[in-house]
Amino acid sequence: MTAGALGRKIGRRISAEGPLSVAAYMAMALHDPDDGYYARREPIGAQGDFITAPEISQLFGELIGLWCAVVWGELGRPDPVILAELGPGRGVLIGDLLRAATGIPDFYRALRLHLVEASAPLRAEQERRLAQFAPIWASRFEDLPDGPMLLVANEFLDALPVRQFVRRGPDWSERLVALDGENRFVFVEGPPSPVARLLVPEGLRDNAAQGAVVEICPAALALAAALGARFSDQPGAALFVDYGYLSNRPGSTLRALHRHQAVSELAAPGTADLSIFVNFAAFTEAARAGGAEVYGPVPQGRLLTTLGARERIAALTARATPGQRRALDSGVERLLDPGAMGTLFKAIALISPGLPTPPGFDTGR
Ligand SMILES: C[S@@+](CC[C@H](N)C(=O)[O-])C[C@H]1O[C@@H](n2cnc3c(N)ncnc32)[C@H](O)[C@@H]1O
Repeated sequence: MTAGALGRKIGRRISAEGPLSVAAYMAMALHDPDDGYYARREPIGAQGDFITAPEISQLFGELIGLWCAVVWGELGRPDPVILAELGPGRGVLIGDLLRAATGIPDFYRALRLHLVEASAPLRAEQERRLAQFAPIWASRFEDLPDGPMLLVANEFLDALPVRQFVRRGPDWSERLVALDGENRFVFVEGPPSPVARLLVPEGLRDNAAQGAVVEICPAALALAAALGARFSDQPGAALFVDYGYLSNRPGSTLRALHRHQAVSELAAPGTADLSIFVNFAAFTEAARAGGAEVYGPVPQGRLLTTLGARERIAALTARATPGQRRALDSGVERLLDPGAMGTLFKAIALISPGLPTPPGFDTGR
């Protein structure tokens, strides 16, 4: 039996329309307006299902604020400038960024805050936390106004739905979610299709092993293309931080997390976070084709260290109690340590053509 109200709703849709693409299943599981994961839950933090960098240390948002201030200077100090965040979660990153920005008054005064958020409970939390910065919300990137822009996004791309394709003989089929004889969700394969074959990156199309799964994230590719086109026309820069891989490669990266533990992706939709690893190669190609310059990906640890993580933590700990010092040190180590988040997470920058290399990306173009 499919579990819960959302499981029954997805089951009814499959009975009516046939098996769903993995992307359609993910979209319903995460964003169904009544029972989707992000519609009902506050997923982030010790009491939630996962923890993110800004929740671990204030340094993350502060240093990204510094990055934005430097890039703003390179864009010619536009005033006003849109400061946009995609998927702000509980609003911690942008709150730390803006508090740090108050130290650079011209920059701070120029900023107009726009938040792109799909989740009603998280938006309510952002409203509580960020009221003093007068944010304007949008549900989609496409709804942001024109104008010079600085955009940041941490762990946004990994929440976007992917389609999956499977190699069978010379062909490719789409991997789908169906119901088995006992009304449980299972993965099945659709018929071989020329469209599936065309969507698989050229380097894998005829070379991947039999049974290999390849992921395509249409929403990430559309976003990269739109940002590329925007930044080739209007001054702007975007910084994404996420986990992912650097070249097109096979493998399903779909994962479900509930209370910090891996669980089945199909057992109880809406109760667990679903995420994927970002294909940075495909993201880069789409952004470049759109017209932006792309830098990175560079490891998160390297970006934060170049931006002055150790100097900033030394300044903070100098004024801290021993307990605060331990918390500050362990937080920053978790963000920088290659064995923790320092290399798993990577930063990539999309920028209007002709500008200097952004801070932290010197060798990463
Ligand atoms: C993994 S959380 C990361 C939150 C935050 N950036 C952080 O680092 O703590 C993903 C965020 O993206 C939002 N989100 C996911 N899919 C979205 C979509 N299609 N449109 C807008 N927001 C989305 C979620 O509601 C959540 O705020």
